[in-house]
Amino acid sequence: MVCFRLAPVPGSGFLLLCLVLGAVSSYALELNLTDSSKATCLYAKWQMNFTIRYETTDMHNKTVTISDLGAATYNGSFCGDDQNGPKIAVQFGSGFSWIVNFTKEASSASTYLVDHISFSYNTNDNTTFPDAKEKGVFTVNYRVALKIPLNEMFRCNSLSTLENSDVVQHYWDVHVQAFVQNGTVSTTEFLCDKDKTITTAVPIIPTTVPSPTKPVVGSYSVVNSNGTCLLATMGLQLNITHDKVASVFNINPNTTNATGSCQPQTALLRLSSSNVKYLDFVFAVKNENRFYLKEVNVTMLLVNGSVYSISNTNLSYWDAPLGSSYMCNKEQTVSVSGAFQINTFDLRVQPFSVTEGKYSTAEECSADSDLNFLIPVAVGVALGFLIIVVFISYMIGRRKSRTGYQSV
Ligand SMILES: *[C@@H]1O[C@H](CO)[C@@H](O)[C@H](O)[C@H]1NC(C)=O
Ligand SMILES: *[C@@H]1O[C@H](CO)[C@@H](O)[C@H](O)[C@H]1NC(C)=O
Ligand SMILES: *[C@@H]1O[C@H](CO)[C@@H](O)[C@H](O)[C@H]1NC(C)=O
Ligand SMILES: *[C@@H]1O[C@H](CO)[C@@H](O)[C@H](O)[C@H]1NC(C)=O
Ligand SMILES: *[C@@H]1O[C@H](CO)[C@@H](O)[C@H](O)[C@H]1NC(C)=O
Ligand SMILES: *[C@@H]1O[C@H](CO)[C@@H](O)[C@H](O)[C@H]1NC(C)=O
Ligand SMILES: *[C@@H]1O[C@H](CO)[C@@H](O)[C@H](O)[C@H]1NC(C)=O
Ligand SMILES: *[C@@H]1O[C@H](CO)[C@@H](O)[C@H](O)[C@H]1NC(C)=O
Ligand SMILES: *[C@@H]1O[C@H](CO)[C@@H](O)[C@H](O)[C@H]1NC(C)=O
Ligand SMILES: *[C@@H]1O[C@H](CO)[C@@H](O)[C@H](O)[C@H]1NC(C)=O
Ligand SMILES: *[C@@H]1O[C@H](CO)[C@@H](O)[C@H](O)[C@H]1NC(C)=O
Ligand SMILES: *[C@@H]1O[C@H](CO)[C@@H](O)[C@H](O)[C@H]1NC(C)=O
Repeated sequence: MVCFRLAPVPGSGFLLLCLVLGAVSSYALELNLTDSSKATCLYAKWQMNFTIRYETTDMHNKTVTISDLGAATYNGSFCGDDQNGPKIAVQFGSGFSWIVNFTKEASSASTYLVDHISFSYNTNDNTTFPDAKEKGVFTVNYRVALKIPLNEMFRCNSLSTLENSDVVQHYWDVHVQAFVQNGTVSTTEFLCDKDKTITTAVPIIPTTVPSPTKPVVGSYSVVNSNGTCLLATMGLQLNITHDKVASVFNINPNTTNATGSCQPQTALLRLSSSNVKYLDFVFAVKNENRFYLKEVNVTMLLVNGSVYSISNTNLSYWDAPLGSSYMCNKEQTVSVSGAFQINTFDLRVQPFSVTEGKYSTAEECSADSDLNFLIPVAVGVALGFLIIVVFISYMIGRRKSRTGYQSV
């Protein structure tokens, strides 16, 4: 056990930070932060590895893998105080640094956020990064924005990945609880989606759905290393005919995550929630000047626990010029198959050529213009959330200035 005595912060006295290193698995990281009264205030245990791409002096791309973190230190980890949220800071190897911070939202007394993860590496280390063309410290930053209920231990044994063009981060066997109450780590686990088994999933389709209300409009976006590359704003209603019974239900944007990818000729928006494993919208370019919705691929759980999957790779909806967005305020139906339809409301989508995270001018569907509605196209309205929601998880404290020394 290693302890760090941290310098006093006004109003919070001394903090004693104790670290338990090692444990079950050789590379597992574990942090048991305690406050001045030796009560646990943050607990985390997890594994991670990294793959880093860098360019060499002879203009090749090389990748290095950092999987044995060796003896990590946790300098800068912090329980949080009135001004700053908790933070876990880990240092390992030759100049690697990994930090995650947590925030309590003013709007919610019952949850907190895993806020950002930042990872830094130093290519001056020529054993790890031989022949690196650019030398220096590089930092990648992710907004995780993962919501966790207070007083529950977040668990994600499954593999989670954070990725950009230069760094791939993997996490697994993650356990974390920040804002530990009364010094007692919770025995209640809050599982990541990947850890939830089908049998624990909540049924989605109510037994009787007389006439569903109009779905809430959600804003979804996909972000790559160049920033936001896909925007979609829409209310979604799924209509599944199964065993001759049509079930209609709405997608709740509050509990739906968006991920995806953007390539020059194709773009993917993937929505997922606890019951919709994924609902993929694949966009393509045609004639080099227009885009359209080409594919829908869905896998979801039905009330009876069975898995329902369907895909259609030959669709042609939401057609608009590249460089613009497609808009349709009226209800529209995307017919994926005879048995599966998606009704859209207040739709606006731009899968290509998004600049500065904003929609470009819209091409409206004929249903809208038939009404002779002149809908002003306000560029900048409906900004995507820019939330990079990633399946991940972590830990701890944060504090601006700290001096500390190893005391034990
Ligand atoms: C964390 O440390 C405290 C104080 O040393 C100890 O009482 C507690 O059992 C530890 N918790 C875990 C989960 O290791
Ligand atoms: C990182 O760990 C994951 C999970 O154990 C493993 O699948 C993956 O191959 C590892 N990656 C590297 C580069 O070691
Ligand atoms: C290295 O990889 C980056 C990103 O993947 C790419 O843009 C670049 O062209 C590659 N360079 C070489 C020399 O392959
Ligand atoms: C922890 O970091 C502080 C400031 O960043 C530094 O002064 C101190 O020497 C570090 N302690 C250890 C044990 O690395
Ligand atoms: C968490 O870290 C990120 C980036 O490192 C920073 O922008 C953000 O303000 C931090 N949040 C808190 C609550 O400290
Ligand atoms: C690494 O850098 C050191 C000092 O800059 C130098 O002495 C050494 O030869 C370098 N090693 C390699 C393999 O380039
Ligand atoms: C913490 O202790 C207080 C006072 O003893 C109690 O009211 C509260 O329910 C406890 N919270 C938890 C999460 O155990
Ligand atoms: C980012 O933008 C540059 C310049 O427009 C482009 O070459 C590169 O492919 C883009 N990267 C991604 C991941 O879209
Ligand atoms: C659901 O689909 C069925 C079969 O295509 C259709 O009869 C019904 O009108 C649809 N309901 C809604 C609300 O779209
Ligand atoms: C979504 O969240 C907002 C604010 O958090 C809330 O006002 C709204 O009722 C929620 N909508 C649904 C459908 O749960
Ligand atoms: C639909 O998604 C599943 C799972 O990702 C994949 O195996 C399948 O090939 C996809 N189908 C199409 C048509 O893209
Ligand atoms: C959305 O992603 C977050 C972050 O990984 C995860 O905790 C949450 O459970 C996801 N929500 C849904 C509905 O998939």
